[in-house]
Amino acid sequence: MVRWRTLTGLLAAALAAVTAGSLTLAAPAVADAGPATPYVVGGARAAQGEFPFMVRLSMGCGGALYSPRLVLTAAHCVGATGTNTSITATLGVVDLQSSSRITVRSNYVYRAPGYNGNGKDWALIRLATPVTSLSTLKIANTTAYDNGTFTIAGWGAAREGGAQQRYLLKATVPFVSDATCNANYGGDIIPAEEICAGYASGGVDTCQGDSGGPMFRRDASNAWIQVGIVSWGNGCARPNYPGVYTQVSYFASAIASAAAGLGG
Ligand code: ARG
Repeated sequence: MVRWRTLTGLLAAALAAVTAGSLTLAAPAVADAGPATPYVVGGARAAQGEFPFMVRLSMGCGGALYSPRLVLTAAHCVGATGTNTSITATLGVVDLQSSSRITVRSNYVYRAPGYNGNGKDWALIRLATPVTSLSTLKIANTTAYDNGTFTIAGWGAAREGGAQQRYLLKATVPFVSDATCNANYGGDIIPAEEICAGYASGGVDTCQGDSGGPMFRRDASNAWIQVGIVSWGNGCARPNYPGVYTQVSYFASAIASAAAGLGG
């Protein structure tokens, strides 16, 4: 119910963006952001180069560079598996209007098998040209990192119902247990497939347009590792409604085999 409403909202936003011919990137962005200005919902601007693997997708979603040719995103951001040259990925910049941005077209979409709007919210987009100048984000393939404090980032709305952002925003959010999250969402969570994060008091969260982007943390070697994919939530940053993310560790081997099948 909650999930359906959120996904529908995204589709509407994506359709509006497509219809408009471009995303609302030129949006009035943020006239002089004071230190207390809420971003991503409760975050701050990311520095150029801070998260080199962050990808903006033209349908109004985020993604992470998984390999030079593959972007990991959410299933609800894409259409069915098959040839797809309609998506443009923007990479290498925090400012989507920067002249140093890299833009690459898609040539194929692989959507999680069995995806039906409930769980399994992951997909791979293959780029027509490999991007070798940016570091990739490795995915967690054990549950070892499915806890602690996570970083979230994206060009989505900085508040519920707000505009898409020109500059990449970031924030950190604490892990929320499946039990708490399921209690918050009245049993709508799929514990094996989803991982939640946020403050009980709300205030910091991903939001519309951040979908598909990564939730990540440091691993034992201090490298960034992806533990989640922005999936859904009830509104944004509301108290006792944490963000719900695809639990990457659960799908890691499926993602790796799909990636191999797409040429790596
Ligand atoms: N489904 C949304 C999107 O398409 C992401 C929602 C995330 N919501 C949240 N409260 N964390 O962009």
